[in-house]
Amino acid sequence: MSCKPILSILLFAASAQFTSPASAAGPEPITPIQPAQVRNPAMVELGKQLFFDPRLSKSGFISCNSCHNLSMGGTDNLRSSIGHNWQQGPINSPTVLNAKFNAAQFWDGRAADLKAQAGGPVANPKEMAFSHALAVEVLQSIPGYVAAFKQAFGNQKLGMEEVTQAIAAFEETLVTPDSRFDKWLKGDRRALTRKEQEGYRLFKESGCIACHNGPAVGGNSFQKMGLVAPYQTSNPAQGRADVTGKEADRFHFKVPTLRNVELTYPYFHDGGAATLAEAVDTMARIQLGRQFSADENAKVVAFLKTLTGKQPRLQLPVLPPSSEKTLRPQPFDHP
Ligand code: HEC
Ligand code: HEC
Repeated sequence: MSCKPILSILLFAASAQFTSPASAAGPEPITPIQPAQVRNPAMVELGKQLFFDPRLSKSGFISCNSCHNLSMGGTDNLRSSIGHNWQQGPINSPTVLNAKFNAAQFWDGRAADLKAQAGGPVANPKEMAFSHALAVEVLQSIPGYVAAFKQAFGNQKLGMEEVTQAIAAFEETLVTPDSRFDKWLKGDRRALTRKEQEGYRLFKESGCIACHNGPAVGGNSFQKMGLVAPYQTSNPAQGRADVTGKEADRFHFKVPTLRNVELTYPYFHDGGAATLAEAVDTMARIQLGRQFSADENAKVVAFLKTLTGKQPRLQLPVLPPSSEKTLRPQPFDHP
């Protein structure tokens, strides 16, 4: 099989470097999530308001939080999102939790960072279906926002540049430290059960760790979906190749974070796996050419559930009211 060499390199990397127990010599391939550092609280608060504000959408009904619900692990728990006019989105909504660790944003990495990403959904006809100009016009018509931008940026500017910067500053704070796994990594031996520790050992020894590693347990590379056996899907997304145009990148997707994966079902870019057990079984077969027994699968799933961290504790923002000049929402395209 043509991918055998790649796979043996992956497996070699995984087994050679990563099998030592946490306490013994050698760093672990997964590192703990650090708590958020807030440098500009006014900007973070403004970004939070914008994240929850449905007036950034044409309908006046869809906010970032509609599809990245912070009460549900930063996702919508749907196979693919519902956008403007009840349109079916093209792809599963990834979590915004710990997204700051991603080497690039989106499944195909077409946005370099959170700031570059944040303008996308506002103007996407299948998501918030607005335009940047209209979104800025709405914000400028709301006195409470004009004051909040001034406080956050120290000047009179209120454009898409400032909007995306504030949203990104808020998203930077959406990290989930103190999972049981992180406590274990930091030396609390009792934080994990024996079954969960065996699951982690399997995760490393079978080679999952070659792609899912670092603080976010993923997010740092693009990899082929279906390395040793093809993945069957009716979703037309071609992954990284849609960005680079290179045949070699066809069906390469950003490796998703596995932090909080217990909360972020359904799984894969097409939302094709409803449960964690199913996702783990598929990964083992098509990425590693391995069939996990029911017992092995349960152990890996048990380990993955220890990656659920402390969720951001947010007070719901009270949004500044519209003024008489504010453009009225258009929830329906017909009159
Ligand atoms: C209608 C649903 C919807 C809305 C509204 C929405 N998103 Fe998303 N978001 C998605 C989907 C779907 C993707 C994945 C798209 C892709 O990869 O092509 C995504 C991707 C992202 C990502 C990249 C995460 C990753 O791991 O690659 C971030 C960050 C993000 N959205 C933040 C936001 C912000 C901020 C807003 C508000 C300005 C927003 N989203 C509004 C559905 C939505
Ligand atoms: C060759 C790299 C690679 C290996 C090895 C690998 N994965 Fe993945 N994993 C990916 C990619 C890429 C995706 C996203 C694929 C997609 O959605 O198209 C993914 C997705 C997942 C998801 C779904 C996450 C989500 O939010 O949608 C889970 C769970 C997962 N992997 C667990 C595992 C486990 C457990 C193993 C070992 C049995 C493993 N992976 C091995 C690359 C890999």
